[in-house]
Amino acid sequence: MALIKEGKAEIFLEKFRPYKGPGKRQAGFYNPTLEIDRDINVIFCQYIVKKGARNFLDGLASTGIRGIRIVKEVEGDFEMDINDLNKKAFGIIKKNIEINGIDANALNENFCILMHKKKYDYVDIDPYGSPIPFLSCLFRGIKRKAYVSITATDTATLCGVYKTACIRKYGAIPLRGQSMKEIGIRILLGYIARQAGGFDYKFHPILSYVCSHFFRIYGLLEKGAKKSNECINKIGWVYWDNGWKICEFEKPPAKKFAGPLWIGNLHDKNFLDEMPEILKEKKFKSQNEKEIKKLITYFKNEIILPPLFYESNFIAKELKRKQPKLNYIIEKLKEKGYLAGRSHFASNAFKTNAPYNDIVEIWK
Ligand SMILES: C[S@@+](CC[C@H](N)C(=O)[O-])C[C@H]1O[C@@H](n2cnc3c(N)ncnc32)[C@H](O)[C@@H]1O
Repeated sequence: MALIKEGKAEIFLEKFRPYKGPGKRQAGFYNPTLEIDRDINVIFCQYIVKKGARNFLDGLASTGIRGIRIVKEVEGDFEMDINDLNKKAFGIIKKNIEINGIDANALNENFCILMHKKKYDYVDIDPYGSPIPFLSCLFRGIKRKAYVSITATDTATLCGVYKTACIRKYGAIPLRGQSMKEIGIRILLGYIARQAGGFDYKFHPILSYVCSHFFRIYGLLEKGAKKSNECINKIGWVYWDNGWKICEFEKPPAKKFAGPLWIGNLHDKNFLDEMPEILKEKKFKSQNEKEIKKLITYFKNEIILPPLFYESNFIAKELKRKQPKLNYIIEKLKEKGYLAGRSHFASNAFKTNAPYNDIVEIWK
């Protein structure tokens, strides 16, 4: 048995396992590498409480760590249900609620059945693997305006390692190679938006990122057929033609492409503007705080730069040239009058609106 501390929560575990990657499925699963992700979750929940969200659900809670941290670290008036189907996990959640002395409801329901019983302002879906089975139930259990956070750990499928599985499950063609992570997250965003459309909901991504072995998406869902129609022009295709290009859903490209996927913004500017203020109010580990600040800078770049990115090592390999420093590449692109900046997707990634011919000149 172990008692660990994360944020302001103390969590009882049957056994502490210091996972570095995805970890092993088991009742009372806890992955310490995801602490920074849960820090961002706290920031997001603080943001939505300020916007009036009141009924919260940590839908696949395991130890209850997310829900418990949100209750302890987010200020304001809201109610929290912490749910897990697994009996043993349910026992652990109850114990953790007690240890932390918080007011929250432990539930032992199948997520999909719970979605038929109650309606929430915020739902967290944090499964092992793909969120698809839970997304199809989500829309029954949310109010007309609701926030969601969704994890996917089937990144190999979404990034095209398992192309057939991606087509079968997400109804989209992935593309391996440069930018596959951003293409993968956009396939997931596109899938969520299309599912939302089926239930007359509009989907608006607030934050979308890759971290360690998973994708995480925060978003807003709003009911209304007209609103939902607004999403249509955010679904399209990407293809390669002297660099990355995007096109609308109704005009699929003739070239090698990926999609359908989300071609709109990955994040919401308003949230990114408020993140630093909320971060200042919280007491996260200083190294996490530093990391989150760096991420915010990258996220801000990502909403002013075009979709998809280039990777300096791919280009160096293709041209059989030495790889210049990323700052140098970005400065050179800016000198040529293009937009350019870093992205959180990879340490060697840069985004730009320059044509590929002009990008590769920098290597010559
Ligand atoms: C990846 S773990 C959750 C981790 C947790 N959110 C965290 O941050 O540490 C996924 C959990 O989903 C639970 N689960 C799987 N299917 C479920 C279902 N249909 N309804 C409710 N819980 C379910 C599993 O028992 C497991 O505890």
